[in-house]
Amino acid sequence: MQDIFSLKGKNAIIVGGAGGIGQAIAQGLANYGASVGIASRKLENLKQAASEIEQENGSRVKVFQVDAGDESSVRQLVNNVVSEMGSVDILVNSQGYNLKHAAVDFPMDEWDALFNVNVKGVMMCCKEFAKVMIQQNSGNIINVSSVRGIRANAGGNSAYCASKGAVDMITRTLAAELAPHKIRVNAIGPALIATKLTAKQMLEPGRTEKYVRNIPMGRIGTTDDMVGAAVFLAAPASDFVTGQVIYIDGGLTAIG
Ligand SMILES: NC(=O)c1ccc[n+]([C@@H]2O[C@H](COP(=O)([O-])OP(=O)(O)OC[C@H]3O[C@@H](n4cnc5c(N)ncnc54)[C@H](OP(=O)(O)O)[C@@H]3O)[C@@H](O)[C@H]2O)c1
Repeated sequence: MQDIFSLKGKNAIIVGGAGGIGQAIAQGLANYGASVGIASRKLENLKQAASEIEQENGSRVKVFQVDAGDESSVRQLVNNVVSEMGSVDILVNSQGYNLKHAAVDFPMDEWDALFNVNVKGVMMCCKEFAKVMIQQNSGNIINVSSVRGIRANAGGNSAYCASKGAVDMITRTLAAELAPHKIRVNAIGPALIATKLTAKQMLEPGRTEKYVRNIPMGRIGTTDDMVGAAVFLAAPASDFVTGQVIYIDGGLTAIG
């Protein structure tokens, strides 16, 4: 019987692949047989992440510099990935950041900058890699959204929540539009996970404990918790799944 979770023979590019969630997903895809490339802005971080993935897995990991918020840089990334890796079977968009200000004080240039990476950056990567996937008549895109795409909170989170709501709708819209080309588009929606992105807020006394009280499973997530859903979405196991957001949140979005 076919191994429905095997990624052997597949090429995967993970944007944000040196970040907490992106690196865990890159590692997971490599462990299930994919050839992996990781991309983001800081070359040093990419090289470090690549060597960690290689150490666990034994496979070669390619690194690519890109600013996902810059259209010409994204186009260059696609050219580089195609010339170095050949086909692009799996794209993971794990780039993104958060910036909090009270709504009435939110500097709109900072709002634009966040949207430029979290929304336009995801769209541009989907758009440019989809052109390659359309030529292949196959492909698979996984966007890293957040529970904040459907669960608002106070505390200055308007830009981030709105950006993740947009990622959810990019996911669904492109799933519909690209389905005739045999390209699937899904997302994962993590709840709070300890990474660089959340390091500052997790240092606030009592903050994590308060958050955990709303999680039925009684703990925050780990980057490793993201791997199973990403492998599932990338693999033949999910061949008839598209346009979905899978929440990896210990039950947070199931209640309240
Ligand atoms: N941690 C959480 O609790 C949590 C929960 C829900 C959703 N998420 C989402 O998960 C994704 C990954 O977050 P994380 O927690 O893994 O954060 P992280 O450790 O800070 O990783 C973010 C990654 O994005 C890259 N990146 C940022 N801006 C970029 C740009 N303009 N172009 C290319 N790459 C860029 C960063 O690399 P460079 O800075 O080198 O470019 C880094 O590799 C984000 O979309 C985040 O919103 C996180």
